[in-house]
Amino acid sequence: MQALRRTAMTNAIAFDVYGTLIDTQAVSSRLAELIGDKAPAISRAWRQKQLEYSFRRGLMRDYCDFSVCTREALVFACRDAAVDISEAAVEQAMQAYADLDAFADVRPGLELLRSDGFSLYAFSNGSRQAVERLLQRAEIGDYFTGIVSVEDVQSFKPDPQVYAHLVRVCGVPAASVYLVSGNPFDVLGAANAGLRTAWLRRDPNAVFDPWGVEPDITSGSFSNIASDIQTACNAIVPRDSNIHNSEVG
Ligand code: LAC
Repeated sequence: MQALRRTAMTNAIAFDVYGTLIDTQAVSSRLAELIGDKAPAISRAWRQKQLEYSFRRGLMRDYCDFSVCTREALVFACRDAAVDISEAAVEQAMQAYADLDAFADVRPGLELLRSDGFSLYAFSNGSRQAVERLLQRAEIGDYFTGIVSVEDVQSFKPDPQVYAHLVRVCGVPAASVYLVSGNPFDVLGAANAGLRTAWLRRDPNAVFDPWGVEPDITSGSFSNIASDIQTACNAIVPRDSNIHNSEVG
């Protein structure tokens, strides 16, 4: 006789925030309004520099709010491209970061997983306050059991300590926690800490780092990732093979 063993209750899923749940495209559009033609190139350099600053501060053990990395990276990217940006324009670009929407496919995916009993966490370099505000504003805050911010351990992804902290908060073994992220460096950081991983490859041209470690799940669609995780966690096993039941029975 077969029984459906539902493991959803014993699994947790964490989601990266910027670029995974939340669409940052509007920041680039706002930057184009503020500085013109060079905005697309500066936007790319800004994101790269923002991450580089977080990596460096993590290594230097010189934690600061992620918004400081973001602001300083914008100033650097503009100076590097010889573009003058006023303090007021920096403020406006930073404000755009606080007013972003969720990708359209996020809500149905979260709905599916939540209704199947998974505990869902938002897991970000962003401060708890910034992430909480962002998720509420994007009307997806209620799907989450909790927000896990790197500020709790005063470091940044991919420091193993931040993933260990996430696992502690989830309260299940690392191998029972999935990280869903659009960032290959984040996926590798999670795999390094023993978590299961799903790479959300929103850009079909995105390349995964050739480090010899592959994500457990890769898809360009949030909904596919949600259903693949659901399938992986809901295994059909023979009732008789349920050792725990036979021991107590
Ligand atoms: C985050 C960035 C890395 O939300 O996307 O943590």
